[in-house]
Amino acid sequence: MNDTFLKACRGEEVDYTPVWFMRQAGRYLPEYQAVREQVDFLTLCKTPELAAKVTLQPVDILGVDAAILFSDILIPVEAMGMHLEFSEKKGPVLSEPVRTKSAVDRLIAPDTEDSMPFVLDTIKILRKELEKKVPLIGFSGAPFTLATYIIEGGSSKNFLNTKKMMFQGRAVFDYLMKKLTRTVISYLSSQIIAGAQAVQIFDSWAGILAPDDYKEFELPYVKKIVTSLKKQHPETPVIYFANNCAGIIKEVKKSGADVIGIDWRIDIADAIKRLGKKVAVQGNLDPCALFLPQEELEKKVQDMLLKGKSAKGHIFNLGHGILPETPVKNAIAAVEAVHKYSKK
Ligand code: CP3
Repeated sequence: MNDTFLKACRGEEVDYTPVWFMRQAGRYLPEYQAVREQVDFLTLCKTPELAAKVTLQPVDILGVDAAILFSDILIPVEAMGMHLEFSEKKGPVLSEPVRTKSAVDRLIAPDTEDSMPFVLDTIKILRKELEKKVPLIGFSGAPFTLATYIIEGGSSKNFLNTKKMMFQGRAVFDYLMKKLTRTVISYLSSQIIAGAQAVQIFDSWAGILAPDDYKEFELPYVKKIVTSLKKQHPETPVIYFANNCAGIIKEVKKSGADVIGIDWRIDIADAIKRLGKKVAVQGNLDPCALFLPQEELEKKVQDMLLKGKSAKGHIFNLGHGILPETPVKNAIAAVEAVHKYSKK
């Protein structure tokens, strides 16, 4: 198996910089669209053979150095007892948003084997299929990011209800966050036991918090997840992707994760300087750079690789998910450029 990705996560010597893309399985691939024409998104997530199939597509088409389980961060939220739908226009919709203590009471801390067996079955199929290929990354949403969907009932612009609960109902907020923390620990641990070789915690909305609030209302829960996972599975790298991290990077560093995933709004050299030599760094090309002419794209890749050299380990990635409009050939060109220009 090509273990370059796992080595880079641990900060070990590598022959070239490994690369994968967040949301690498998805609508920009005609092969994904063909599967989606047959089934809706949630059915796809819950059918192990199909979820495994679309997980493998970018590995074969792009030549990336890691696979990421095809699922969604809201799958465990549905397992907690909320009604989940994906609408074409609005994205995820969770009916009956949770805003009171009694609503939090009703949320279950789910057991993965019982309520999300399809996730573990997908992982088992994938480990067999990936045996001679690349490692498999499992994932979960971070507690704060999950809390925003649970409290807002879907995507949001200002996160007013979330912040109201944080500031005015802190005991209820803490109660919800503790339930989510337990859920994330057990969910990721089950994924690792089933075969995930690294895990990523997606904190898509960490960056909407003021630094002091991030420190108080998210960091302690993330730390708890990382500590618990490292204790149970010391060999499995934990990646923490904190989106929009420039203002909170000093705190993000304290998460204890082996790898910090960064978005494109911060210069990677600056991020590495501020994160220090104890963690590897993942990122951070602007997803829109995949629309540039090849020469300009290659230039950006080269610059980033050069800056990435000063990190304990560098895993090349986008600063957020690949966009549905991305030309596949440009994504392939980016992967090839990362490999070509980083080769020792
Ligand atoms: O990275 C991968 O290839 C693995 C699969 C994956 C998906 N979602 C598939 C998906 C992963 C890791 C996620 C994580 C996820 N889901 C996040 C965190 C990462 C991020 O982007 O910030 C979040 C916030 C979600 C919630 C979510 N799921 C939203 C807001 C949406 C709607 C917007 C959109 O992109 O369509 C989804 C749907 C979703 N998740 C799709 C895919 C491929 C599109 C569904 C479709 O096929 O129509």
